[in-house]
Order: sequence, then structure tokens, then C-alpha cells
Amino acid sequence: MKEEIDLWKARRLINHSPLILLTSRAKGRDNVMTLAWSTPLAHGSPVIGVAVSKNCFTHELISERGEFVINIPDKGLLETVKLCGSTSGRDTDKFSSFGLTKEQAQRVSVPLIKECFASIELRVINTVDCGDHTLFVGEALRCVAVKGAMDTTLDISRHPTLHHLGEDVFAVTRLL
Ligand SMILES: Cc1cc2nc3c(=O)[nH]c(=O)nc-3n(C[C@H](O)[C@H](O)[C@H](O)COP(=O)(O)O)c2cc1C
Repeated sequence: MKEEIDLWKARRLINHSPLILLTSRAKGRDNVMTLAWSTPLAHGSPVIGVAVSKNCFTHELISERGEFVINIPDKGLLETVKLCGSTSGRDTDKFSSFGLTKEQAQRVSVPLIKECFASIELRVINTVDCGDHTLFVGEALRCVAVKGAMDTTLDISRHPTLHHLGEDVFAVTRLL
């Protein structure tokens, strides 16, 4: 027996991509935001989309510079993920306030986060207006990960990613 679900809740069926700490830089400021809505968009070329609310400071920074970095935290960073997702870079320096260390990127000007086990540097190649969010479509230019984390697939036994199910409910994945 199935039941009708409110459409606003439908996204929660597919909400739980690995949580990202997304970094951006413009206006002389570096910023970090938590982001759940990301997806690979092409198989042949490394294209990835992230949906960013138009209210976020991050939206202004990516729109201005056309670059961003996807940093992948593991479960040890849950509290940081919550903090970066509930404060704005407009009035908080999240790097210094939440103990995050900047690492220099090679292909973009946006900093990577040292405490994350992997990062992807991207350049915006397209945008899609989705109403209250913009889908920034990025071409991946460089990816780094802690040695051994990505020998074949992602080793989630060593690097359990975080997933948001909605409300204040978080999960980690496990291998079958
Ligand atoms: C678990 C979690 C997931 C989030 N996912 C997204 C997301 O996918 N897109 C988005 O625009 N905001 C998302 N947010 C909200 C932003 O992280 C939040 O608005 C943040 O304060 C924006 O920071 P900024 O103003 O410094 O850019 C999420 C927040 C949390 C806690």
C-alpha cells in the first residue's frame, strides 16, 4: 500500500547526495557553505551541477568569479557542516570561526579546505535559473584526494561521507 506524499517533500527522496563544503572567493572574501544538492551531469566530460539559493552569499561570489570548489567532509566534520550551513559569510569568516584551513588550488583562485579528504576545482560553464535557486554547472578542472581514498571507487570505510535526509536528520553510508 502506497500513500500520497506532499510534493514539497518529494525532493527528500533524492536529497542525500554526499554533503559538500563548497568554497568560493570574490570581493576580497573567501567563503564556505554547506550544500546537499549536487549531481554529476555528464559522463564523457567531467561536468557537475550545484544548486545554490539566491539568498546565499555564495551565490553572489560564484556569480561574480565563475569558479567554485567542492570539498568533501567525512563524518568527523558533522558539526562544522551544520555551522557552515546555518551562518552566512556576509557576517562571519567561516574559515577562522570554525577552524578550517585554506589550501591553495591549482586551477582556480578559490581555496580548498585542508580538513576535507577530497576536493574538486570547477569553472562555471553554464547557469540554469531554477526559481529560488540557481544551478551552477561546473567543468571539473582538477581533483585531489587523500592517498588511497579513491583507488577504485570511494573508500567509504575509511572516509564515511555525510548525507542529509531533511530536518535535523543526518546519515552515513555503508557498503553492502
Ligand atoms: C545539511 C545542509 C544542506 C544544505 N544544502 C543546501 C543546498 O543544497 N543549497 C543551498 O543553497 N543551501 C543549502 N544549505 C543552506 C546553506 O548552507 C546556508 O544557507 C548557508 O548559510 C549559506 O551560506 P552563505 O550565505 O555564506 O553562502 C544547506 C544547509 C545545511 C545545514
